[in-house]
Order: sequence, then structure tokens, then C-alpha cells
Amino acid sequence: MKPLSTPEQILAAMTYAEKLAQLQIVWRPDSTEAGALARNGAGALFWPATAKATNALQRTAVEESPHGIPLLIGLDVVHGQFTIFPTPLAQAASFDTEVAAADARLSAREARSTGVNWTFSPMIDVSRDPRWGRVVEGFGEDPYLNAVFGEAKIRGYQGDDLSSSTSIAACAKHFVGYSAAEGGRDYNSTDISVQRLRNIYLEPFKVAVTAGVASVMASFNAVSGVPMHANREMLTDVLKNEWGHNGIVVADAGGVGELVEHGVAANASDAGRLALSAGLDVEMGGSLLSGNEPIIREGVLDPARLDDAVLRVLRLKQALGLFENPYVDESAAATGPDEASLSAARATAARCTVLLKNHAAVLPLKPRGQRVLVVGPYAESKDHLGAWVQYFASPTTTSIVESLTAALPGSVVTALPSATFFDSDPGLQAEAAAAAAEADLVIVAVGEPSTLSGEASSRSSLNLPGDQEELIRAIAGSGTPFAVVLLTGRPLVVSEWIDQCPALLVAWHLGTEAGKAISDVLTGTVNPGGKLPMSFPRSVGQVPIYYNHESTGRPARTGGSLAHQRPDVGLTGPTNTDDYFKSKYLDLELGPQFGFGYGLSYTSFELESSPDQALSVALDGLRAGTRLCFTTIVRNTGTRDGDEVVQLYVSDLLASVTRPVRQLRGFHRVFVPAGEERRVTLTVGFDDLGFWTNDAHAGYIVEPGEFRIRVGDGLSFQEFRLTVTPPSS
Ligand code: GLC
Repeated sequence: MKPLSTPEQILAAMTYAEKLAQLQIVWRPDSTEAGALARNGAGALFWPATAKATNALQRTAVEESPHGIPLLIGLDVVHGQFTIFPTPLAQAASFDTEVAAADARLSAREARSTGVNWTFSPMIDVSRDPRWGRVVEGFGEDPYLNAVFGEAKIRGYQGDDLSSSTSIAACAKHFVGYSAAEGGRDYNSTDISVQRLRNIYLEPFKVAVTAGVASVMASFNAVSGVPMHANREMLTDVLKNEWGHNGIVVADAGGVGELVEHGVAANASDAGRLALSAGLDVEMGGSLLSGNEPIIREGVLDPARLDDAVLRVLRLKQALGLFENPYVDESAAATGPDEASLSAARATAARCTVLLKNHAAVLPLKPRGQRVLVVGPYAESKDHLGAWVQYFASPTTTSIVESLTAALPGSVVTALPSATFFDSDPGLQAEAAAAAAEADLVIVAVGEPSTLSGEASSRSSLNLPGDQEELIRAIAGSGTPFAVVLLTGRPLVVSEWIDQCPALLVAWHLGTEAGKAISDVLTGTVNPGGKLPMSFPRSVGQVPIYYNHESTGRPARTGGSLAHQRPDVGLTGPTNTDDYFKSKYLDLELGPQFGFGYGLSYTSFELESSPDQALSVALDGLRAGTRLCFTTIVRNTGTRDGDEVVQLYVSDLLASVTRPVRQLRGFHRVFVPAGEERRVTLTVGFDDLGFWTNDAHAGYIVEPGEFRIRVGDGLSFQEFRLTVTPPSS
């Protein structure tokens, strides 16, 4: 074993080619290539799928490479390695960051035990366009929600000590603005104002850097015409210099080479020079060396920049404890879920469900004595893992119908053979309607399969695929009460059938224990308490639609159809000229079908909020750390224990730039036993009341004046007026 050296000492002994080799994670090499790369001093490799193979690669790196430098071993552990937790968007719906932390802690334990020491997660791209398949990987449309869930995952993955056998290095991605792709079409151009960039897309990454995230991944898109993989302003000026990120910046797969496609690099060598000079530290793909030969001529790169990148990589390896111990105990390597991880996966999954409708208390199912029919592709499908799982992920253990059968021994649970997601089978609809007529209650389990979700999976339609909507209508026609369980990676358009549907439960893609968790909710063992982290549009024509929008100079105020006497287009309806010249659609009601922060429960709550202090505060006091407290009494006025999510929103009523009509700046999910009450206190401070100006040098400011504070359950709020007084002159 070579004597341990400091990163600086190792760097001093490295050649130019050896330095570049440390700055690459080659894209999915085969085992022979991986061995050769390790022998030649590669900095990082993707996980070779077993602890044994990982130890072999580490041994090759330590014992045969020029400086014996151990490897970073990366993998996309996005919502689990073997045990699969709910997708990140589903986790956001829990409005409980402990759900994300539980995923990250257990995922890190499984991953590190197998030799993975670096995950490319969390994704904290604020997502406002459900056509984009990757909305599933982030935490929805709000910057604050993405920030706090991203922080919870980073802390869960990294723990207090990266060298621990249960910690892995996290990676905040994709930096930055990838989710603003025009048309929701993956990899498409973005056009982002300074206001949006600073106040929407960058906020979660700033919080991630403050939380000590070990790495940040550059995104495929350009910002203001400069592709992020060559964007010095963002990668160096903002991320490293302004925010102090001292970890590594890694490319997305092929992102450096794609600078040629973007049209800003003449060739691969030029692309590598641009990327490393802009502040990228590790290339993902394998385009810095051809064999062992650098494709960037020595002397082209600033030596100080090159050395800085190498030191960042070596320091991360040092922090991970890899120089002391690069190997894992193969006998202790996880090979699949254990009882603890399955139990956590089941509990977190149930917390992610959102009840959007429940007329006449169709749900929960009665404990016994019911004839329950389950129809739809998801009656028996076990496709609940969602996007971004690896081939070795632990499959969903039981389907919805299997879980309900086990949970309701005193009832008769039957399932119709389910069509696939895309087939059209009118015969099946008729058969389902006939079977429904013989049932007491029908569960219509429909949605989109995991394959329609994730990277390169943008959709131009947000409707249910195949003839699932016809199936819902056929069941509605039977007259039997029914509930729709919607399994999806993204918000969907439900407007074509929601009025005929008595109950709707959104169950996302909930992972390995999805079937049992959904059964726990449908039977009332778990009372759903989730809220929507993304708006559900009425029509794909509304997209992008999000709650934290600006007012515009002509906000339409009246809902309902604003159709006017338009015989030319066949639209008729009330003529309301007060709203004619306002920001609206002629053929669609205002606002989303279901809004951000909305969700019901099997019980009912009353909220009563009040400020704990006078609602006037000096700007100097805020800057010094004063926080204003708002306490809410949450009363459970129903007959079932349940959770409520108290939410606090801020509105800046008069500012020097347009500000969102409201912004989430605090929330807390609280359990309240039936008939009892609990107190929740949420606070507001300097970081919640201000904004980044268009002048980057002026930075973040809070302007004195009037603010509206709203506290409520996501549907109704109490409002308070807060005055921030100017500094004493
Ligand atoms: C993909 C994704 C990125 C992922 C990387 C490695 O292209 O954009 O999120 O971490 O490749 O798998």
C-alpha cells in the first residue's frame, strides 16, 4: 500500500495526461474497458453492479495505476438503489421532508455497502411544465419546496461524515434552468430572464450549496445563449465564487461533447477546453482523452484551473475516506431490500398520496362486506417503480388488487383482466360496466406507465393514454359508486372525466411497496394527507401553469367560461366585457383543475391562525435575524385521525419589479387525532420577503413596505398584513 499523501502532494506528482484522466467518468464502459480505465488512472467510473466487481476496480486503481488514486463510483440512486421509494415528485406531495430524508438515508446505506460512493441526485429543477417527462424527478413547481426537499436528500445521502459506510456524495442537478425547456420538450432551448433565473431556478441550488452538497451537475440547456457546460458566469462566477461551492461540478452525460451540436465548439477538443475553462471539473462521457492521449493539447488550459479541478476531485475522495479504505465488505453488501427499508418504503409511499375528490365519502372502503371490483391497467400491473430505477431495482411486491384482497378478507375483491395502457378494447369497457353493475364499489386503477415518465419522455398530450378515459366513463355509466386511483409520473389532464368521478386519489409511482401503500390508503388504514406539488392543468393548452405567477397588468378575475357571442367560432355564453380584455382564454375557465398545495383528507379540519407579535418590523431587524411567528391551531373536527399541512405564503404588495402573487415560504405537516387540536408555528424572515434584483451586483434585497401573509391549508387562508419599515436614516 503506497504511503498516504495529501491531495496537494499527489497533484504535484501528476502529469498533464494523468490530471485529465482524473477529470472523467467514462459513460458506461464494459468491464474490460473499466479495468483498463482504472489501471490508467481514471478518476471515476459507473458502478459495475456488484460489490465484488467494485472492489476489483478499486484494487486495480490503488495497486496498478500511476499514483494509486482510488475511484469515485457513481450511480443514479434517485429514489432508491434496490428498495425503491416514491418518485421525487411523489415525495414532494407528502409535504414532509422526512419522507425524502428517509429515502436518502436508506438509499445511501444500500448504495455505499455495494461500493457506490457518489449519487447523481437530488434533482432540484423547478418544474412548471408537465409535458416535460423529467418533472417526475424533481420536487415540483415551487422553489422553496425544491430547496427544502433537496436539502433533506443531500443531508440524508451525505450524513454528518462522508467517510461513513452509510454515506454517499450527493449531486444537485441539473444546474441550471433545464426544466424551462420550451414546449416542455426535453433538451430544448430555454429563455430565462434574470428575474426567473435568480428567483426561481437558482434558489434550490443556492440552498444545496449552503447545505454542503458534494457536487453539482451541469445541465444540457443554454442560458442566455451560453450552454451550461461552457457557462463560466454560472459555473464559476455564481456557483463557485459567489456561493462558495468547494465541491466538484460534473458534466451531464455527453454534455461537453454536445457543445459542438450547440454550435459553440468547433470540435471535441475545443469543447473540452471551453468546459474546463468555464468551471466544469469532471467530464461525463469520455471525451477528454483518446485512449491515454489528451485530446486537448497541453498548454491550452490554464494550469491553475486544471489543478483546481484535480484538487476538488482528490479532496472529495479524501472526504469519502477512500484513501484510507477504498474497499467495501462484500459479505455486508446489500443485495436487495430488508424489512426496515420495505417498511420505510411502505410508510413513505402512503404519505405521498393526494386525495383530490371524495364526494359522498366513497373512500375509504368499508372494512368488510363489500363487493369491490378493481378495473384498469393498474388493477394488476406492478409497474409502480417510476422513472430512474436501475435494472436491479426491487420490483413492486404486490399489485393493487392483490393488496386489497389481502387487506379485506371480509369483502369480495375481484379484478377484471386489465387491458394494457395503450390498447383500445371497447369490449372490455362493456364487460367492465357489466361487472360494475354487480359490485358495491369499483376502484378504477388507471394512469401512465413508467415508460412515459423521466428523461427523453416529453408528451404533447396530458390525457390518459389508450382508452382509459373511455373505461372511466363506462364505469360511471354503470351507476355503481367508484373511485379513480391515478398512477402517474406527472400532473395529467382529468377535465374530460372528473365531473363524473366521485373520488380521485393520486398515487403517483410509489415504488417497491406501492400496492400495499395504496391499499393502506384505500382501506383507511392510512388517512391520505398529501398536497399537490404541481398544478393539474385543465388543458394542455394552459401549460405552463403554476401558482406563483405574476399578476400581469390585466389579471382576469372571474372564473367560469368567458365565451362571448362568437358565432364564427361557435362559442356562446355570458358577455362580460369587464373581463374581456384580460389575460384569459375564450374557451377555458381560469386557473388549474387542481392547484398547488391542494389535497383532502378522510377527516375534516378547522384552522385558526394568528401572529405571535405586532405585524410591523424594521428592515434592520429582519436583516439582523428577526423572524415573525404565526401560530395556527389545527382542530380535527372529524371522526378519523389525520394529517393536515399548514402552509404559509408571502406576497410583496408593492415592489420595484413584478413579484409572484404569492410564494410558499413555510409549511408543516401535523398529525391531529380525531376531536383534538395541535399548534403549528411557522415563521417568516429576511430570506422570505425579498428577491434578487435584475442588477446582479445589487443581489438579494428586501424592500420596505406592505406584505400579505397567508396561512392556511392550501385552499383557504387567513390573511395578515405585514409592514416592513425602512432603515432608520
Ligand atoms: C442522464 C441524466 C442525468 C444522469 C446522467 C447519468 O443523461 O440527464 O440526470 O445523472 O445521465 O446517468
